[in-house]
Amino acid sequence: MRLSLLFLLCFLFLASISVSASFGKARHVQQASHAQQQQDEEDQQNPYYFPSHLFQTYYTNELGYIRVLPRFDRYNSLLSELDNYRILDFQSIPETFFVPHHSNAHYLYIVLTGKAIFTVVTSGGRVSYSLGPADGLTVTAGSTVHVANIDSDEDLKVFQVARTADYSPKELQFFFPGGYQSPQSYYYGFSKLNLVSSFNASYEEIQTTLLGQKKNQGVIVKTTQEQISQLTQNATSGPFNLLNYLLPVSNENGKIWEVRPSELPQLRTAGVSSVGCAELKPGSIILPHANSENTVIYVVEGNGTFEMASPESIAGQVESLTAEITVGDVYVIPSFHPVALRASNNGYLRFVSVGIYDENSLMNFLAGANENLLKQFDNVAKELTFSGSAEQVDALLEKQTQSNIVSSLSHQQEREEKKD
Ligand SMILES: *[C@@H]1O[C@H](CO)[C@@H](O)[C@H](O)[C@H]1NC(C)=O
Ligand SMILES: *[C@@H]1O[C@H](CO)[C@@H](O)[C@H](O)[C@H]1NC(C)=O
Ligand SMILES: *[C@@H]1O[C@H](CO)[C@@H](O)[C@H](O)[C@H]1NC(C)=O
Repeated sequence: MRLSLLFLLCFLFLASISVSASFGKARHVQQASHAQQQQDEEDQQNPYYFPSHLFQTYYTNELGYIRVLPRFDRYNSLLSELDNYRILDFQSIPETFFVPHHSNAHYLYIVLTGKAIFTVVTSGGRVSYSLGPADGLTVTAGSTVHVANIDSDEDLKVFQVARTADYSPKELQFFFPGGYQSPQSYYYGFSKLNLVSSFNASYEEIQTTLLGQKKNQGVIVKTTQEQISQLTQNATSGPFNLLNYLLPVSNENGKIWEVRPSELPQLRTAGVSSVGCAELKPGSIILPHANSENTVIYVVEGNGTFEMASPESIAGQVESLTAEITVGDVYVIPSFHPVALRASNNGYLRFVSVGIYDENSLMNFLAGANENLLKQFDNVAKELTFSGSAEQVDALLEKQTQSNIVSSLSHQQEREEKKD
């Protein structure tokens, strides 16, 4: 028993080495400085908070980068259920092309800024989609994909959730048809004999045509206007836009958009039970609530504070886990944990969110005028549960007249003070 655990640990360790080494020359994992380590230890105090600096640069050049957040279970064994999900962010400057590649994962892509053409190629054909902000696309593992930033001034930013295919390693593996070095074409994996026979051509011709070195080399390369107009020609509009799915909990303090597989069945392939985005006005709070699905949050703009109640190992005790979140950070709200999120008073907080995995997600608010779980308690339960009488509890629950998303009192005070 002990031996097999040791073996498993060794295996996980080796697997972790293989991902950092998988990109040959392009590998660029940041060295942790002393200050960084201290920061890491502080962050570890909340094992559901994954600040932006934990992302590892998978590839970078002067045109853009792709970053991958290490597996959640590396930081928190309670998140082992999510160990085949990976969060990526990709950014590229105007008029660039992320060369064709396939991987062992299903993808959900959400465009955050910019304009892109995503092309999905299989041996059966190819489809191109034109995607703008809040547009999403899902892609089945094994499909070859290329992505162009077609805008002439704006950077393209894409949030991605990858789910490694069943019975495939949990580490992401990428394969490129073209390239001499970084990326290196998968055709380099074959002998001369096999290549010559496969293409029915001389090895020299294969070398110069497919496998040679060229000026414009890399995973992200520059395009011309002419190439962009050709790529754009046959593209259809994105399969879905998050902003078409406003949730009824939205109000003057904030808006939440969310779509589920019942409306978009392709989300099942990506292994997500919801995808959405939100914007909170400065100082707004999403009231304490508990959700039956794990929710991954990625901050797009602004700052905020998470507060979460987590059960301690001592029965009945609660640990308060908090995190100050900012752009590029990831926070995983584990299923069923009561949580509240407050936008800072200084600006809008915008984020994308992905649910994993409960198609019939049940969201219970724990405060507020409507949809408040406490208001459903009968009087006996109120009296036996809380310190006040049922009447006192009812009187307390009547005080909040807003629901779901409210303006924080500190923010209201701040505004009052400014008026004075
Ligand atoms: C290979 O190419 C030659 C011409 O160079 C052609 O005659 C032959 O039919 C081709 N064989 C296959 C299997 O395509
Ligand atoms: C666009 O479609 C036309 C007609 O089907 C085709 O001739 C052309 O090659 C396509 N262009 C691209 C860039 O796929
Ligand atoms: C968010 O916090 C960062 C530092 O953590 C700060 O530089 C930035 O100005 C803040 N933005 C807003 C909108 O408050």
